[in-house]
Amino acid sequence: MLFRPLTAAFAVAAICTTTAAAPTATPPTEAQVRELVTKAATSKTCEDCVAALRVSREFARDSVTAAIELSKSMCPNITKSPADLCNGNIDKQMPVFIESVFKADFDRGDDKAICHYVTDNCPPPPVTAGTLRFPRPKPKVLTVPAHSGKLINVIHLSDWHVDELYEPGTEAQCDRNTCCRTFPTTNTSAPPIRAASTWGDYHCDTPVKLTRDLMQFIKKEISDIDFGILTGDIPPHDTWLETKETVVPIEKHSYETIASFLGDGVNVYPTIGNHEVAPANLYPTEKSGGSAQWLYNSLSSQWSPWLTPSARLQVRNNHGAYSTSPHRGFRIISLNTNFCLDDNYYLFSDLSDTDPNHELRWLISELQHAEDHNERVWIMGHGAPYQTSCLDNWSDLYYQVVLRYSPHVIAEQFFGHSHVDDFAIYYEHGNEAGVKNARTAVGMGWTGPSVTPYKNLNPGFRMYKIDTSSWNVFESVTYIANLDQAAQWDAKSETPNWHVEYSAREAYSPYVPLSADEPLSAAWWHNVTEAFENDPGNPTGPFQEYWKRHSKQSTAYATCLANTTCPQQMICALRSATGVDACVAAENGFKKRGDGGNGEAVEMVQETRPWSMKMCGNFW
Ligand SMILES: *[C@@H]1O[C@H](CO)[C@@H](O)[C@H](O)[C@H]1NC(C)=O
Ligand SMILES: *[C@@H]1O[C@H](CO)[C@@H](O)[C@H](O)[C@H]1NC(C)=O
Ligand SMILES: *[C@@H]1O[C@H](CO)[C@@H](O)[C@H](O)[C@H]1NC(C)=O
Ligand SMILES: *[C@@H]1O[C@H](CO)[C@@H](O)[C@H](O)[C@H]1NC(C)=O
Ligand SMILES: *[C@@H]1O[C@H](CO)[C@@H](O)[C@H](O)[C@H]1NC(C)=O
Repeated sequence: MLFRPLTAAFAVAAICTTTAAAPTATPPTEAQVRELVTKAATSKTCEDCVAALRVSREFARDSVTAAIELSKSMCPNITKSPADLCNGNIDKQMPVFIESVFKADFDRGDDKAICHYVTDNCPPPPVTAGTLRFPRPKPKVLTVPAHSGKLINVIHLSDWHVDELYEPGTEAQCDRNTCCRTFPTTNTSAPPIRAASTWGDYHCDTPVKLTRDLMQFIKKEISDIDFGILTGDIPPHDTWLETKETVVPIEKHSYETIASFLGDGVNVYPTIGNHEVAPANLYPTEKSGGSAQWLYNSLSSQWSPWLTPSARLQVRNNHGAYSTSPHRGFRIISLNTNFCLDDNYYLFSDLSDTDPNHELRWLISELQHAEDHNERVWIMGHGAPYQTSCLDNWSDLYYQVVLRYSPHVIAEQFFGHSHVDDFAIYYEHGNEAGVKNARTAVGMGWTGPSVTPYKNLNPGFRMYKIDTSSWNVFESVTYIANLDQAAQWDAKSETPNWHVEYSAREAYSPYVPLSADEPLSAAWWHNVTEAFENDPGNPTGPFQEYWKRHSKQSTAYATCLANTTCPQQMICALRSATGVDACVAAENGFKKRGDGGNGEAVEMVQETRPWSMKMCGNFW
């Protein structure tokens, strides 16, 4: 999902395993580590987290095996997670976490940074990414192509998260990231609290049956699809069990399903999510050691029905990222944004490397080429640079790139990862000048809603109407099925009620007028957020309507009440496209953008990812 597939275990692990300087002292005892980690988990202060991290690192330096065993022994109690889940996640994630923490430079403040990114207990360290230099200065006169008036249909699928081991009738309300399966801890003689329907459940990933029904619906209902985009995360959230051998076939089956329903004439441009690799999230950098080449090779071959040989060669040789031109004058740049995600523990091995694998440098060269050749560009990725899980330095640099090449080159940006229906607006002066209005709004980040209902969301997807000259979005139509009816579909032998949830133009143009020849631009969306500010508690007003769309009308999702700070925080987040924009107050007094994506948005807004929540793997 959106986020972190992490499970309880690794955060613990993380904490449990930090390294430390002090070459002289005798290694800390197990009891000392236990005490400091327990204290940090309880107090959730930055100071205690740093102390726990430091002592754990010393302990691990003495014996990595002992550190791994110790985190396994503490994990179930601290995270309230089943031991098999703890053990699986720790075995998969901890070795990389420990190696990276050994290399981290605590004297430079990496300890606080890690406590910021992993447990949210420290305030963000300063952003020192600096000012980018570009191959050429931004042109004085920017030529944005006129709209042609000819529109094509593009579908956007995100966060598919299919669970091939989904079992109807099993417990849907379990203590794991994803339920609806029989686990070693399942008491099979007890009746389930809530039995999994055949179509899915709010606490589970997507049954194969639902993915096929969705594709059948798309094939039948949406005519003239020109192409599709697929913003990552095919495998389910069972991170404690996943291996190369399990994820590769799941990815293969899903791409084949999508290709077979859409047919030969419809290309899909995919991107790599944090779940494509196994263990989840762990994408090595050139400097970190380790390799995910097996994945890039596999995807390069699995994407062969859709990508040109040249794009497939890039997937193989460019860490999964590629640039391709599906139509004359139009380019799609697909990033591997796992090199900014804070769940990618490899990144902690060198936090001073603000552009791992030179991905941003490559993006700039592609955008410069596009500017030189008058191409319009879409950037796509899985985790969005505007979500809190993107490392702040990277997010800051990415914003500079967007400003340099907008609005004349970059037409739109598409991401996923949070599972919710969301967006972010880029402004000419970034966050710095504090001037955010319709005149300074220059770019849009569209977050595609997830296919998976995990967690507490309805399954959905998008269709855009795109102008073939400007490559801007003229219409955005979101489709959903109401999963709270799943038991009735089963009882009556019906299929899901896929239907249009809303058209963005129809939904918001009554508040912010938009003529037929104008796109759904960043300026227009900015004005929509201004309409949101007007009486945000009104149940039939635009903000509360937006809030229902955020979860795709899920009845299981949290409210965002006017008598709380939730509406202001959420509106602030829509206008924030860097991770460091401060919208949501955390319990420790520092602030984050707040993505509102974990199915318990209001709790998150009020408490902002307390240590214990992330520890419980309550993320995407
Ligand atoms: C479990 O954790 C709590 C604090 O969260 C601690 O007080 C207790 O001693 C721990 N129990 C065990 C068996 O480790
Ligand atoms: C399993 O469920 C049955 C039926 O509810 C119950 O009698 C039994 O005690 C449960 N076993 C465990 C180990 O909880
Ligand atoms: C930004 O990078 C510097 C190293 O250049 C690092 O020390 C700092 O912690 C990073 N800031 C954040 C917010 O990650
Ligand atoms: C946004 O609102 C401003 C101020 O009301 C108006 O001047 C501008 O035309 C609007 N732009 C769009 C695209 O809605
Ligand atoms: C906000 O209003 C709701 C009812 O609309 C009420 O249940 C809740 O207690 C109120 N919360 C606060 C913080 O006042």
